[in-house]
Order: sequence, then structure tokens, then C-alpha cells
Amino acid sequence: MEEAMKRVHHTKVTFTLSCLLHLFFFCALPAMAGDVDRLISFKNSLANPSLLSNWNGTSSVCEFQGVTCKSGHVSSLKIRGLPLGANFSSVSAHILSLQNLETLTLHSINLTGSISAPRNCTLRLKELDLSSNNLRGSVSDATSLANSCVSLQSLNLSDNSIGQSFYSPSSVLPHLKMLDLSNNKIATNEDLEWLFSKLGMLKHLDLSDNNIKGTLPYITNCTTLKHLDLSANQLSGTILTGTFSSCLDLTYLNLSTNHFTGKVPTEIQACSDLITLSLSNNNFSGEIPILSLVSMPGLRFLELAFNNFNGSLSESISKLTSLEILDISANQLSGLIPQSLCTNNISSLEVLHLQDNYFTGSVPYSLSNCTNLVSLDLSLNLLSGSIPGSLGSLSNLKDLIIWQNNLTGAIPAELSSLKLLRNLILNYNSLTGKIPDGLVNCTNLNWISLASNQLTGSIPIWIGKLEKLVVLILSNNSFTGLIPTELGDCPGLCYIDLSNNQINGSIPPTLAKQSGKIVSDLIVDGWLYVSLASSKNIQCHNTLSFLEFNGIRYYDLMRMPVTHYCNFMRVYTGFTGELRRSNVLSMIYLDLSYNLLDGHIPTEISTMQSLRFLNLEHNHLSGPLPPELGILTNLFALYLSHNFLDGMIPSSFSGLSLSDLDLSNNRLSGTIPEWGSLATFPAYAFENNSGLCGLPLPPCNGRSISNGNVLQKPSTNYGSSDGWWIALGVLFSFFLIIGFVIGQFIK
Ligand SMILES: *[C@@H]1O[C@H](CO)[C@@H](O)[C@H](O)[C@H]1NC(C)=O
Ligand SMILES: *[C@@H]1O[C@H](CO)[C@@H](O)[C@H](O)[C@H]1NC(C)=O
Ligand SMILES: *[C@@H]1O[C@H](CO)[C@@H](O)[C@H](O)[C@H]1NC(C)=O
Ligand SMILES: *[C@@H]1O[C@H](CO)[C@@H](O)[C@H](O)[C@H]1NC(C)=O
Ligand SMILES: *[C@@H]1O[C@H](CO)[C@@H](O)[C@H](O)[C@H]1NC(C)=O
Ligand SMILES: *[C@@H]1O[C@H](CO)[C@@H](O)[C@H](O)[C@H]1NC(C)=O
Ligand SMILES: *[C@@H]1O[C@H](CO)[C@@H](O)[C@H](O)[C@H]1NC(C)=O
Ligand SMILES: *[C@@H]1O[C@H](CO)[C@@H](O)[C@H](O)[C@H]1NC(C)=O
Ligand SMILES: *[C@@H]1O[C@H](CO)[C@@H](O)[C@H](O)[C@H]1NC(C)=O
Ligand SMILES: *[C@@H]1O[C@H](CO)[C@@H](O)[C@H](O)[C@H]1NC(C)=O
Ligand SMILES: *[C@@H]1O[C@H](CO)[C@@H](O)[C@H](O)[C@H]1NC(C)=O
Ligand SMILES: *[C@@H]1O[C@H](CO)[C@@H](O)[C@H](O)[C@H]1NC(C)=O
Repeated sequence: MEEAMKRVHHTKVTFTLSCLLHLFFFCALPAMAGDVDRLISFKNSLANPSLLSNWNGTSSVCEFQGVTCKSGHVSSLKIRGLPLGANFSSVSAHILSLQNLETLTLHSINLTGSISAPRNCTLRLKELDLSSNNLRGSVSDATSLANSCVSLQSLNLSDNSIGQSFYSPSSVLPHLKMLDLSNNKIATNEDLEWLFSKLGMLKHLDLSDNNIKGTLPYITNCTTLKHLDLSANQLSGTILTGTFSSCLDLTYLNLSTNHFTGKVPTEIQACSDLITLSLSNNNFSGEIPILSLVSMPGLRFLELAFNNFNGSLSESISKLTSLEILDISANQLSGLIPQSLCTNNISSLEVLHLQDNYFTGSVPYSLSNCTNLVSLDLSLNLLSGSIPGSLGSLSNLKDLIIWQNNLTGAIPAELSSLKLLRNLILNYNSLTGKIPDGLVNCTNLNWISLASNQLTGSIPIWIGKLEKLVVLILSNNSFTGLIPTELGDCPGLCYIDLSNNQINGSIPPTLAKQSGKIVSDLIVDGWLYVSLASSKNIQCHNTLSFLEFNGIRYYDLMRMPVTHYCNFMRVYTGFTGELRRSNVLSMIYLDLSYNLLDGHIPTEISTMQSLRFLNLEHNHLSGPLPPELGILTNLFALYLSHNFLDGMIPSSFSGLSLSDLDLSNNRLSGTIPEWGSLATFPAYAFENNSGLCGLPLPPCNGRSISNGNVLQKPSTNYGSSDGWWIALGVLFSFFLIIGFVIGQFIK
């Protein structure tokens, strides 16, 4: 009891003492009437005051929603994502004058009006976050605001509408450490120049995602700056020597997604503390500034993708032993891939992206020492030799992507130790041999593409055990044997292309086993793809060629020999991952064309409700067209030509809403169903059958044709009607997202 009394007494004494230590007007007890009045005045100025329901006289101010108190005073107010509808002038008058306020966050509250210097900003405010609102004003208004709150260290105005060109006299920022003006409407490099002259003690400046045009001004004094983000603007021209020469403390520099040209100035090597350097998506040229880079021993993230760097990649790059991301994709580099990468025994490299360059030589053995490597992409280069089996030691590897090179030899059996492997994409090489059985142990495989190689052997039955497999593309090889019935066991497999092999036997009905049960969220997010679509021709059996496409320029597709002999007409692109959001219930793409398949078309295919594309042409299929296929209402392309199919076209086929159809070169007979879409196709879709008649072919009983135009001219541009291209766009917008048409630039 006495002990407790003592403690209470002690607390009182401390409290009084602390009051005495402050100026006494800070100590009004219990809660400052002033705080309540100011908050209530603010509430009354809102468009939607009812959203702050407990801000009223009956609650204590310290219990008001969003409020935190220290010693009975409001020290912090944080409101996020409530559409209060406030005006900056009201924030300025009522909130910024709260005497003990240290932190204010009003994120996404529909705050409007122009920012300006508050008349009476509290002395204690350290952090002000007004991001994601609709604030207006100029860069100079932002600095005036910062300067009139004398303790302010961090000002976040990201995602507003700041960017008027107006400059009021203002001193340098004396104390501000962080200024985030990203995602605003700043439009001229005069604003930049003005800000650069006011940096003061600023450490963190984010101006990304504005619309800043013009050249990059000198940063006259950036001795304290550590983080500078100018990415995603419209800055252009060369970077002048001296621009960064005083930025000795810089650890983060992001100039990506602008229009910079010319060489990277060598004096960037003065920024020897850099950890992150991103120059991607510009038009920088010349050699990679390797001497500057190796003077930055702490460099961890180096992004140089989508520029015009040429020359070779120096072995010196391996001196950057802290490097985690090295992305030089989509440049003009040639010569060997450095053979000394990762030769130091503790390599931190996680991402090595060198795709879309002109590298020659082989895949370096030293890569097998990059034990932390997660993603390796060497696609669209001129590499030869075989894939080193030692890559099997990269136990963290998830992406092994080396399409369009001239790799020879077998797929190494050692890859079976890559337990985390999700993308095995080696299409368009000259690989031989069988698919190694050990890959059954790579249970995370999500996307397998081995198309357009010279692989042999049968399609392994264990593929059915890959629980995460979504895309399986083995076309244009020399696979023999049967289609494993087990393929139907994969719970998420919805894209199969086995075309142009020597596969025989019949089509297993079990391919439809997962219909209605497809687990579509197996597809990994965020992979850019393209699909090249050709008009059908004899030299090229690919109707569609589906490619992984991260870090590749569209026009560099023309470097692929296949684009010349296949006459690809259109390119569709998008990101994987949208699939799960588009209600996929079954297989959506099935291409078994140009094989030796016989037997009947299984009626089970009709349970693939989401099927869009079915290509079985150029096989030895016989028997009737299953009438059940008529219920595949999502189907837009149906190719069954060059088989031995017989019987009538079922009347149920009138229910199909196809954009392209080919039933030619079979043994079909009888009347083509008159209603529905079938009769709208040109005659060549039905030609060379045993006895088909009726529109668009000549009538069945020799009656004269009332409409003289029904026989359409055979088209040489087969399969490229507008409807087909539109439907193809729909396929890919369905399969992944925006299947937009890039145009007919590949011809
Ligand atoms: C004030 O807020 C409290 C707590 O939310 C609530 O119970 C009370 O009804 C409110 N009073 C008025 C007058 O709105
Ligand atoms: C934002 O507030 C303004 C008025 O302050 C109002 O006109 C507008 O509809 C509000 N917008 C939203 C998204 O709440
Ligand atoms: C905000 O307040 C200022 C000054 O009170 C006024 O001029 C302005 O029109 C107001 N803006 C909006 C969007 O309500
Ligand atoms: C500024 O704030 C102080 C203390 O809160 C107050 O006494 C004074 O009246 C305010 N001045 C103006 C102009 O609002
Ligand atoms: C500023 O706010 C935005 C939006 O809330 C946030 O994404 C960003 O990280 C903030 N900036 C800093 C430097 O904290
Ligand atoms: C650069 O800015 C720092 C900090 O504001 C200051 O101490 C220094 O004198 C300035 N140097 C020059 C050359 O202006
Ligand atoms: C650089 O900026 C771009 C565009 O704003 C962004 O996508 C990228 O992630 C940034 N790079 C780094 C390493 O932060
Ligand atoms: C990039 O720079 C090269 C010269 O290095 C020039 O030929 C090309 O037109 C530039 N491209 C763009 C998009 O500015
Ligand atoms: C790199 O490109 C420039 C022109 O932009 C050219 O003068 C130079 O010879 C090229 N260097 C190499 C190694 O190809
Ligand atoms: C891998 O590193 C070890 C030592 O760290 C070295 O002895 C070996 O030669 C390296 N292997 C390759 C292929 O570079
Ligand atoms: C690919 O390699 C083979 C065998 O080494 C060679 O005959 C062929 O010319 C190469 N092709 C290309 C495009 O380099
Ligand atoms: C798969 O891994 C298991 C053990 O992890 C091993 O016993 C088996 O031999 C491997 N399978 C193949 C085909 O390599």
C-alpha cells in the first residue's frame, strides 16, 4: 500500500518537473481544449464529416479515430483511405497548428486545394504525408511549406497534381531530409533546376513518374543526397560531364525510363557508394562504363536494360562481388559472356539477364558457382555449345530461360536437382536427345517450352506428376510414341502444343480429365509473353508461336530466323497471371496437329468448356465429328483438315461461334448446316471432302443457286481474315491480359 502511494507520488513529481522543464503553456491539464476545438473545426470543414463519427464532444480527443497522444496532447494524426473531402487551407489552419503534432498522415482522403506555407505551422512537426490526394501548387510551394514547418524532416506529396510553373523566392531547404514528389505533374526541367539549387540537407529526393522534359541540369550541390529518383520522366539529351560530380554520398540513382542519349559520363565513378544504379529504358550508347562501375564496390542492383550499349561485357564485371541483379537485356553487346562471373566463392548474384544481345561462345561453366542465382535468361543471343550440366548445382534457380540461340547437345540430366525450377524455356535451339527423366523431380515446373529443337524419344509419362504445370510446348521436334494419358492428371495444365512431331496412337480422352476442375491460380504472375501468329502456309506449320518475352524488344523478334520463313503477321502480347482472374475451367489451347495420330476424336473434348483453340489437322484421325463438340461455345478456331474424318457435319455445329474453321481434305459428306456460322466460311474450309454440299459449296440436289455470289474466291491469304485476328486477340486477352495487336511489322 505504502509502496503504491510512493509510486503515485513519484509520478506526480516527475510530471510536474517535466512541466516546469517545458514552457508552462504546454502543460494544460487534462487534455488541451485547443486540440479538441481545432479537430472539431477541421471535422466541420469536411465534405463528409460523418466519416469521423467518434470525433465529438463525448469522446476524449485521444480516442478520436486516427489520433495518438503523448502526455494528453495530440502528437500524431493518421488517416488513410477515407474520402473525407478536405481542403488544404483547412488542414493548414486547424491541423498544422496543433502544438504538439509530430506526425501527420492524410493519405488518400480526397484532399484538394493548393499547398502553401501554413501561417502557423507547429514547431514539432517532423513527418507530413499528404500522398494520393488532389493537391495543386508548384514545386516552390512545396519547399515553402517545408520551410515554414521548422522541424519538418519528411514531406510526402506523392501522387497529387503538383506542377504549376511558379517560383517564389525561397531559401534552401534547411532541415528537410526526405521529399517525395513522385507521380505529380511536374513538367519542366526549370523545376528541377530550381529544386537542385535548394537541396540543403536533403537525403532522399523522389521525382519519378512526372512529366519532366528537357535536359538534366547540373546538380550544383548534392553533398548530402543519398537517394535520387528521376525515373519515368521525359528527360532527354546527354548527361553533361560534372552533373553528378558532387554527389559523393549517393547510394541510389534511378534514371530509367527517360530519353537520355550518349555515353554515361565517366565521372559517375565519383559516386562510389552507389548500391543501386538504374539506367534502363533510355538510349544510352557506347560501351558499358565498366571502369566507373568497378569503382562502386557496394553495387548490388545494376539495371542497364533497353539501351544501345555495344562492345563486349568486360570480365571486370566479376569484380562487383556484391552484385545481386545484373540486367543488361535488350542492348547490342557482343563477344563472350564473362567467363569469370561468380568465380569468387561467395557470389551474391541472383538475377543474370543478358537476353536480346549478340553474345557468342558458350554458356560459361563458371555460372555453376553462382549459388544464389534465381533467374538466368540468355535468350536471343548467338550462343553455341551445350548447356553445362554443372548448372544443376544452382539449387535456388527458378528460371532457366535460353530460347533462340544455337545450343546443341542434350538437356543435362543434372537439371533434375533444380527443385525450385519453375520456367524451363529452351525453345528455338538445336538440342538433341531425350527429355531427361530426372526432371520429374522438378515439381515446381510451371512453364516448359522445348519447342523447335531436335529432341527425340517419347513424351514422358511423368509430366502428369508435375502438379504446377500450366504451359507445355513441345512442338517442332521429333518426338515419337503416344500422348501419355497421364497428361490429364496435371491440375492446372491448360496450354498444350505438341504439334509437328511424329506422335502416334490415339488422342487420350483423359486429356479432358481436369475439365471443370482446373486450378487456374497455378500460373505465375508477371511474365510478359508474345504470341506470333502466321497465316497458314506450307513451309511453316506454326499457326501460333508462344514465347516468353521479358527483356526483349519487339523489333528484335525479326532476328529470329523463324519470323522469316513463317510469315508471322501479327504479334499479341500481355502478361501471365491474368489467367486466374478469367475463370478458366478447362484446357484453353490444344494443338496436336502435324502428327501421326489415329483413332476417333474423343467426345470428352466437349467437356473442355474453356477451349478456344483446337488444332488436330494433318493427322490420320478417322470416324465421325462428335456432335458434342457443338457445345464448345468458347471455341473460335477449329482445324481438323487433312484427316480421314467421315460422316455428316453434325447439326449441333451450328451452335459454334467460330472465327476460323478448316474441315477440308477429309471424307465428310452430306449437307453443311445452313444456320449458324458454318455457312459463312469460304468454300476452301470444306473443300476436298467426299460429298459435302450446300452453302458455301454448290447445293446438294443440283438446284440452281439463287444468289450468284455464294461461291467465294479462293483466298491466298488463308486464315487471316479480320475476324480471325480479332478472335486471336480475344484468345490472348482471355488467356493473359491485353492482347493488343502490335501491327503487321513482321512480314
Ligand atoms: C460520439 O462518439 C461516441 C463514440 O463513437 C458515440 O458513442 C456517441 O454516440 C457520439 N455522440 C454523438 C453526439 O454523435
Ligand atoms: C472529393 O471532394 C470533392 C469536394 O471536396 C467532391 O466534389 C468530390 O466528389 C470528392 N471525390 C471523391 C472521390 O470523394
Ligand atoms: C479551398 O480553400 C480556399 C481558401 O479557403 C478556397 O479559395 C478554395 O476554393 C478551396 N478549394 C476547394 C477545392 O474547395
Ligand atoms: C498560432 O498558434 C499559437 C499557438 O497555438 C496561437 O496562440 C496563435 O494565435 C496562432 N496564430 C495564428 C495567426 O493563428
Ligand atoms: C510516399 O507515399 C507513397 C504513397 O503512400 C508511398 O508509396 C511512398 O513510399 C512514400 N514515400 C516515402 C519516401 O516514404
Ligand atoms: C553544399 O551544401 C552543404 C550543405 O548544405 C554546405 O555545407 C556546403 O557549404 C555547400 N557547398 C557548396 C560548394 O556550396
Ligand atoms: C527504377 O525506376 C523504375 C521506374 O520507376 C522502376 O520500375 C525500377 O524498379 C527502379 N529500379 C530500382 C532498382 O529501384
Ligand atoms: C538512339 O540513339 C541512336 C544513336 O545512338 C539513334 O540512331 C536512335 O534513333 C536513337 N533512338 C531513339 C528512340 O531515340
Ligand atoms: C558502338 O557503336 C558506335 C556507334 O554508336 C560505333 O562507333 C562503335 O564502333 C561501336 N562499337 C563496337 C565495339 O561495336
Ligand atoms: C568455382 O569456385 C571454386 C572455388 O570457389 C573454384 O575452385 C572453381 O574453379 C570454380 N568453378 C568454376 C567452374 O569456375
Ligand atoms: C548452329 O550450330 C550448328 C552446329 O554447330 C551449325 O552448323 C550452324 O551453322 C549454327 N547455326 C547458326 C545460326 O549459327
Ligand atoms: C528424384 O529424387 C529422388 C530423391 O530425391 C531420387 O531418389 C530419384 O532417383 C530422383 N529421380 C530421378 C528420376 O532422378
